[in-house]
Amino acid sequence: MVDGQLHSARIVVASNRGPVSYRLGEDGSLTAGRGGGGLVSGLSAVGHAEAAVWVCAALGDGDRAAARAAGRRLDAADTGGHQVRMLDIAPEVFSAAYNGVANSVLWFVHHLLYQTPLEPVFDAEFAERWAAYEAYNTAFAEAIAQEAATGARVLVQDYHLALVPGLLRERRPDLRIGHFSHTPWAPPDYFRLLPDDVAEQLLRGILGGDRAAFLTRRWADAFAACCEGLPGAQVVRDAAGAAVEVRLDGRTTRLGVHGLGADADFLRERAHRPDVEERMAALRERIGPGRRTVVRVDRTELSKNIVRGLLAFRRLLQDRPEWRGRVVHVAFAYPSRQDLKVYRDYTAEVARVAGEINSTFGTAGWTPVDLHVKDDFARSLAAYRLADVALVNPIRDGMNLVAKEIPVVSDHGCALVLSREAGAAAELGEDALVVNPYDVRATALALHEALSMDPGERAERTKRLASAATALPPARWFLDQLEALGGE
Ligand code: G6P
Repeated sequence: MVDGQLHSARIVVASNRGPVSYRLGEDGSLTAGRGGGGLVSGLSAVGHAEAAVWVCAALGDGDRAAARAAGRRLDAADTGGHQVRMLDIAPEVFSAAYNGVANSVLWFVHHLLYQTPLEPVFDAEFAERWAAYEAYNTAFAEAIAQEAATGARVLVQDYHLALVPGLLRERRPDLRIGHFSHTPWAPPDYFRLLPDDVAEQLLRGILGGDRAAFLTRRWADAFAACCEGLPGAQVVRDAAGAAVEVRLDGRTTRLGVHGLGADADFLRERAHRPDVEERMAALRERIGPGRRTVVRVDRTELSKNIVRGLLAFRRLLQDRPEWRGRVVHVAFAYPSRQDLKVYRDYTAEVARVAGEINSTFGTAGWTPVDLHVKDDFARSLAAYRLADVALVNPIRDGMNLVAKEIPVVSDHGCALVLSREAGAAAELGEDALVVNPYDVRATALALHEALSMDPGERAERTKRLASAATALPPARWFLDQLEALGGE
């Protein structure tokens, strides 16, 4: 394995979660598993992979062992040919930054998840976690500063790494730096929940870059609105009132919007492999002949609003008894962030409500909710293909790719019930049934309309949804950001 020269990368991508993760066997052996997602296919589009480096964090024990065993770069055989530098940050620093700040504070702020009478509480213990977040961001900035060639372009991802653009600018003023938020951005009144110094550091961190980019205009505008509260910052708007740049301390950060789309070629090919066909047959068997399906596929994530989705399904069965015995809610809720108690409790609540619906309405031959918690990508694709209705009702979501993927692979057309608070609503709203995610009654009504939709209309809408969903495939999404950074 060759480690590559320092200061040789023309392109650097930085994200908390990298394109590979390692499992540590009981005998000490390491098995590499590859991740999917837009960044992986985006980086593949760069072609000359040797000039691009991906910097990420070791997330668990397997990753740590692999990062230690490797030199500066992981074995390219494990990473799909990508040059990957995995940072072995001290576990307690990583955990405080990732669990204690990124996932339990910044994620909560941007998705409006707090129960505000009791939380958040910012005390001395939070100050320690914040120091860990600074250290974790500094480790990234230092690694990128070592890897990047003069004038290289750097694409920093997400709320985990909000301080990196500023920290990197101090170390390497020659670089072209972009930050991309895959989440929503909080509205100013909610962002103000954060301690003032923390809020200022986050904004100044991102404004250390040449560009700050978002999945939809709404999140870019929210970011700009937060910047308006920062002393000395000036937001510049175009004639239509959209924020285009933020000026601070003699520097300018341009704002961009890149609405990541579904990867149609990959999905269509993958969704027709034999393992998916097998799972379709198994799902059909469980659903029962002639029944309709309402499908959801999510991480068991607080922002995904799975419990209210179940309550809406229950209300549908209550208010429209004609659907009893004729529809199954296939709900995939895959484990996520189980290190956090609030996620474990939420996972238990999802199972409890699903069980309650089944015991109230179920009969010998019909189980109304078919809940699956074991992650299985082939089975998700199988459900995408056979869904009559897709339920995508997040409280708030940066984009939501499930809403974009289902229409692309659907066999016979699928009606989409979509939250107006998902970024995807800006692109798919016209052909979806758009709902207020907090309104269980309205969501139940939308489910009824979706289930009752004429098949011809459903197929037509699905075609239009698929075409909107694939307007900006991952490779183009990635290259657009590189081009917009300029410098090459
Ligand atoms: C969101 C974030 C990503 C994150 C993903 C999964 O989509 O924007 O940065 O990787 O959730 O969350 P996890 O904590 O498992 O990486």
